[in-house]
Amino acid sequence: MTAARIDGKAFSEKLVASITVRVAQLKEAHDIVPGLAVILVGEDAASEVYVRNKGERTTQSGMRSIEHRLPAETTQADLLSLIEEMNADDAIDGILVQLPLPKQIDSHAVIQAINPAKDVDGFHVVNAGLLATGQDALIPCTPYGCLMLLIDHIGDLAGKHAVILGRSNIVGKPMAQLLLAANATVTIAHSRTPDIPAICREADIIIAAVGRPEMVRGDWIKKGAIVIDVGINRIPAPERGEGKFRLTGDVHYAEAEQVASAITPVPGGVGPMTIACLLRNTLVAACRRRGLSSDV
Ligand code: GUN
Repeated sequence: MTAARIDGKAFSEKLVASITVRVAQLKEAHDIVPGLAVILVGEDAASEVYVRNKGERTTQSGMRSIEHRLPAETTQADLLSLIEEMNADDAIDGILVQLPLPKQIDSHAVIQAINPAKDVDGFHVVNAGLLATGQDALIPCTPYGCLMLLIDHIGDLAGKHAVILGRSNIVGKPMAQLLLAANATVTIAHSRTPDIPAICREADIIIAAVGRPEMVRGDWIKKGAIVIDVGINRIPAPERGEGKFRLTGDVHYAEAEQVASAITPVPGGVGPMTIACLLRNTLVAACRRRGLSSDV
């Protein structure tokens, strides 16, 4: 058996197309253009790529993209005052501060300074709390994208045993909340969990979000399980020539596809869903702030 490839790229394109239609309707009916502000501090190469992609996709969907690139030595006070300005700016519906931030800045303080209604990352404690208590929240984009792919692929998740590898605030913890809300049975494993392979073998669904290239091997996976690979790791690829790199996930794809029933590739799986969900959150934030429906 070879696993089905879960095509996150194709799914995200359909989602972005429906968002684009709703954005055009908002402009037509209410003269509203949702605005997404992205703040990048310093010059992290991976962050540069993400921020550029976010800006391009935002504009393509008909929304307004506002980018602030600040020097690596920016103080926390300066960043907080920029966020205050954006909180007060009615043309800005979403505020995203790209992580990680330079060491002199406390990322928790920065996230808590964002108006929760504009927190399109869903990282503010208000949104984390709303999600944890089953209320309307802005939902972190990567786990939201994973959930959409899972539901699209298997439908009802009730009673499925999902094992999440990784306990970050960005993926692991909100992923657990979303799966619980969908009536799955959830286990979170992390760096201090003994015998992770044995735990994975019990899983109907594995979500790998640890940032360790190809950590999940074929013999960790129960036959027929579904594997969602959140990792995007850049590793040396001497077979492609000297000094070349390739992208790989947290799952050993070639082994996993012999056992799983479905798996997300890297690239082209979860990655494109994250940006699509960010656009969706920006649209939702723009509509909620004005009491309009955001249905897409
Ligand atoms: N860095 C890595 N992933 C993310 C994300 O989803 N949001 C933000 N703001 N920064 C990130």
